[in-house]
Amino acid sequence: MEITVKVKRCNPQGNADCKPSWQSYDIKAEVGMSVLEVLLDVIAGVDPSLVCRRSCRSAICGSCAMKINGRPLLACDTQIIEEYEKAGRIELEPLDNHRVIKDLAVFQEPPWDEFDKIIPYLNEKDKDVAMTAEDEHAIDASQKCIMCGSCNSVCNALEMEKNYLGPAALAKAWRFVGDVREGKKEKRLDRLSQEHGIWDCVRCVHCTEYCPKDVAPLSAIERLRDKAMAYGIDDNHGAKHSTAMVDSIRRVGRLDEAAMTFKTLGLLRSIGMIPFGMKMEMHGKMPHPVVLPAIDGIDEVRKIMDKREEEKKKEELD
Ligand code: SF4
Ligand code: SF4
Ligand code: FES
Repeated sequence: MEITVKVKRCNPQGNADCKPSWQSYDIKAEVGMSVLEVLLDVIAGVDPSLVCRRSCRSAICGSCAMKINGRPLLACDTQIIEEYEKAGRIELEPLDNHRVIKDLAVFQEPPWDEFDKIIPYLNEKDKDVAMTAEDEHAIDASQKCIMCGSCNSVCNALEMEKNYLGPAALAKAWRFVGDVREGKKEKRLDRLSQEHGIWDCVRCVHCTEYCPKDVAPLSAIERLRDKAMAYGIDDNHGAKHSTAMVDSIRRVGRLDEAAMTFKTLGLLRSIGMIPFGMKMEMHGKMPHPVVLPAIDGIDEVRKIMDKREEEKKKEELD
């Protein structure tokens, strides 16, 4: 099958401001060929100046992650004909939120540098702890990460704040915090709760949606948040906001934005938010804090919340 493969090319080496441009290659694809195989054929036979990264060719090293038709995918695990028939085109770009080395190859500082920051090894407990199958299951998904960086490339929080640890490193952090053999959970959670840690996530779910290995980084982040709060590590905006949200639902069955802002930011910083709050109210985006009645059925909402709180109390700190 004849296919035109378009590649977004750029060589920032020696020219940091270079503008990317599209280059087309007409190739002959056979059933069973991956995008990576096609790229390697182009490099070997047509254009040796084209650059991509790869190692295992078996979807286990994470090197070949790139944007294929706008989505982060592993090039070695994407059938080119299937993808072409689905999208009607093949357009290849480097991962977003990563610095380009050349063409489709990107520097892999995120997530590698962030992995260092989360201290990627176990701190032993004083005594040996045997793992059960259930214990292993709790961290199973996070152990499947192949460090491809796809989740970081689609992370809205990382796009806004380059210092955010990012979903890949936080999924890895859960691998250690969630491990019954880890001896310094509280210390880890304390560090992860600081600026640019677990509370920077805006829950867009992209990381979970695009991870090729079903690591579900957002679930790991939610577990880290729960665990941090269970340890009483709650003197930060994220934890305060979360508590304020629960209080609001219990009180009126919906979000009382004004009260939540006050509880999250404190008096002084909330005063600075008044013009913004007024604007929101004028556009019908925020109910007036003084006239915010409880919803019908609030008693049912409270019963559900009581039940959940009972369950949470039973969850022990290990
Ligand atoms: S859910 Fe959070 S960590 Fe995942 S991509 Fe969105 S902002 Fe990033
Ligand atoms: S969590 Fe998934 S998407 Fe993110 S680096 Fe690991 S394998 Fe890749
Ligand atoms: S080359 Fe290793 S994951 Fe694709």
